[in-house]
Amino acid sequence: MSDDRSSDPLANKHAAWSALFSEPMSELVQRYTASVGFDQRLWRADIDGSLAHAEMLAAQGVIAANDLAEIQRGMAKIVEEIGEGRFEWKLALEDVHLNIEARLTALVGDAGKRLHTGRSRNDQVATDVRLWLRGEIDKLAVLLKAMQQALVALAAEHSETVMPGYTHMQVAQPVSFAHHLLAYVEMFARDAERLADVRKRVNQLPLGAAALAGTSYPLDRERVAKTLGFDGVCQNSLDAVSDRDFALEFSSFAAIAMVHVSRLSEEIVLWMSQNFGFIDLADRYCTGSSIMPQKRNPDVAELARGKSGRVVGHLMALLTLMKGQPLTYNKDNQEDKEPLFDTVDTLADTLRIMAEMVGGIQVKKDAMERAALKGYATATDLADYLVKKGLPFRDAHEAVAHAVKVALQQGVDLAELPLATLQGFNPEIAEDVFEVLTLRGSLAARNLLGGTAPAQVLAQVARHRARLAG
Ligand code: ARG
Repeated sequence: MSDDRSSDPLANKHAAWSALFSEPMSELVQRYTASVGFDQRLWRADIDGSLAHAEMLAAQGVIAANDLAEIQRGMAKIVEEIGEGRFEWKLALEDVHLNIEARLTALVGDAGKRLHTGRSRNDQVATDVRLWLRGEIDKLAVLLKAMQQALVALAAEHSETVMPGYTHMQVAQPVSFAHHLLAYVEMFARDAERLADVRKRVNQLPLGAAALAGTSYPLDRERVAKTLGFDGVCQNSLDAVSDRDFALEFSSFAAIAMVHVSRLSEEIVLWMSQNFGFIDLADRYCTGSSIMPQKRNPDVAELARGKSGRVVGHLMALLTLMKGQPLTYNKDNQEDKEPLFDTVDTLADTLRIMAEMVGGIQVKKDAMERAALKGYATATDLADYLVKKGLPFRDAHEAVAHAVKVALQQGVDLAELPLATLQGFNPEIAEDVFEVLTLRGSLAARNLLGGTAPAQVLAQVARHRARLAG
């Protein structure tokens, strides 16, 4: 980025404002207040917004058709320059908006100076951020879908793969691996819904609010909204320039999605540890240790878990940014960009890599099944069996607790106790109890909507596939 002020009349920052200022801005203030280092990322949205504004100004007779043509010509040149990395961003011109406008004026003269009629950077920046974010939202929606599809594809293979389900991190009841994966699909499906809902409020046009109070030019705001694909127009000019709720909402969505990623990552890390040994990850997602030759570490999952911290942090930053801001625009708002940009980048990269990694999970069915056999996971099934024989549930619960205690003392599973021993806890117990005590019997018994029975899980796989198709 150039710091050169000599070649451009606008490059002496104070000259960009007015004759009111009698000395140049201090070097330090210039650096402190500039945002062009990061907001140049908004250039495409800035140019699209300007073109829509100019076209409307011409249609309304505020500027001449010839001015519009000149603005379009200049902007086309600027798009080219930026695209080819030839555009010279100047720190002295503070931000993306002033940089582009100054270049336009250098290219086309007076027509460039007419572009800002009926507009302020306050409604301009709000428009740019919304336009840019809308594009990113649409890309994230695709990534969220791919994430769900990866999980559903893996689940489709494992409706009969038994693993221990946990509560309190203690073995609770057998579930299928597919059922467990589909729990995450539910989470990401809600994220996708939230994102679609946020989009509606992102996609409202602030332009026309000008600095804060609206403008005296006969602008056609609806026309600009239509040109730019906005669903509607912000209805209060003060709110239009000061509102950043859309950023807060987006950031909340992203924080929740990253929390989901983080939970999944935590499980992947646990499952891959030697103590679980439930899964293996493809080598390309693992790293080694510089000192311990035997190590293969699930770094990607750990980083994804760690990166949830910064996205949650950005939400806090944005909430704090807005808290206590009086109406309307305040320079504080310039601080909305970096958290927002990093949130988008972190979430996009994380979803992309997690979807790929999930696709490469190798499942160690035997280890999962052995683990499920360890913690008396079918104790509830024995209690339910007794209830079916007429016992009140609380009594059945008590009888099974005694059975588990004896099995624990003998170091065996419930299914390994002889029938006679089991009958000692309740005489109603018969030979058919052993079917109930198997992991597969336990799974198959939970054959209700939302349950872990393979038939239910396969129905959910089909539902998700239909939902995610197209
Ligand atoms: N760079 C500024 C921002 O990001 C643009 C708006 C500046 N408006 C102003 N009145 N100083 O918020």
